[in-house]
Amino acid sequence: MAARLTDKRKKKIVADYLETGSYRAAAKKNCVADGTVKRIVIGCGDIEQKVAQKKEENTADILAYMESQKGLVCEIIGKGLTVLNDEEKLKEATPAQITTALGTLIDKWTGISKKWGRSWRAMNESYNMDCMEYMKSLPAKAFDLAVVDPPYGISISNNMGRRKGDKHSDYKKVEWDDAPPTGEYFEELFRVSQNQIIFGANYFISLIPKADTPRWICWDKGFPEDVSFASFELAWTSFTSPAKRVTLSSAQAGRIHPTQKPVALYAWILNRYAKPGDKILDTHLGGGSSRIAAYDAGLDFVGLEIDKDYFDAQEKRFAEHTAQLRLAL
Ligand SMILES: C[S@@+](CC[C@H](N)C(=O)[O-])C[C@H]1O[C@@H](n2cnc3c(N)ncnc32)[C@H](O)[C@@H]1O
Repeated sequence: MAARLTDKRKKKIVADYLETGSYRAAAKKNCVADGTVKRIVIGCGDIEQKVAQKKEENTADILAYMESQKGLVCEIIGKGLTVLNDEEKLKEATPAQITTALGTLIDKWTGISKKWGRSWRAMNESYNMDCMEYMKSLPAKAFDLAVVDPPYGISISNNMGRRKGDKHSDYKKVEWDDAPPTGEYFEELFRVSQNQIIFGANYFISLIPKADTPRWICWDKGFPEDVSFASFELAWTSFTSPAKRVTLSSAQAGRIHPTQKPVALYAWILNRYAKPGDKILDTHLGGGSSRIAAYDAGLDFVGLEIDKDYFDAQEKRFAEHTAQLRLAL
């Protein structure tokens, strides 16, 4: 049975309904059934009036955006047309070549729109809660791809990530790694997602259906052969593609979590395994690297983190990342 929605999630659902004006769109964004959105919205009183007002505001926003980009669009089209309007070239060009050239101009404009679309439209949410509670509230196959990194249950050292010579660890005592995921976790994960990539799956292979297939990713951390700790990590994938190795250093400046994986690793995964428009789930967000990679890739994303300190730290990291990107635009 579906778990009760928290007040925070209900408010978010109402806000998304106001934003989109559609039960279906709000349901998709929040991974709940259309009927759930309708029930919550109807329980909210004068919502229809607010939707009409929001639609007017959205229209005004879009018109303002188009106005602000008008100069750039005209410049691109102008340059393109100047190049196209070369008499010698036109004489020799076939209609198909002219059509392709015009198509290229349109693609250029679409590319700019997509760049804006990334920060404007892709849904990117994180919740400070138990992933089991969240998954139980979802309908089947609510996500296209789950990229997860649950605790391995190997009682990792509290000093992971500590530099040689440091007197103390920057991280609080790690207790969550003593509690690896259960069979119920994997049942829910496979119920709510179409495809899965599971880090550390070699630690709980008996709990994963079809894990005896050769569809693994090996993350090679690029250490010399004789180091005393593991020089690679494995992730199982539900995809039919053959096993792959990716070599990427685990070193990261300003790390905020003891087992934080690099953003570049998640970027590699999303680039290879996710499709445009996919909705990504990370049940164990940790330092939030997956969230940043999904944001950069323009993919919808939801991440869950049970620990308040880690949750707050990744919120700050994410806010800093998106603020930097906005400045760069
Ligand atoms: C292996 S770490 C994830 C590291 C992450 N991939 C990164 O790059 O930073 C696992 C995280 O899961 C969190 N966690 C443990 N049990 C959880 C649960 N039931 N729901 C949500 N998060 C949980 C822990 O607090 C920890 O931060």
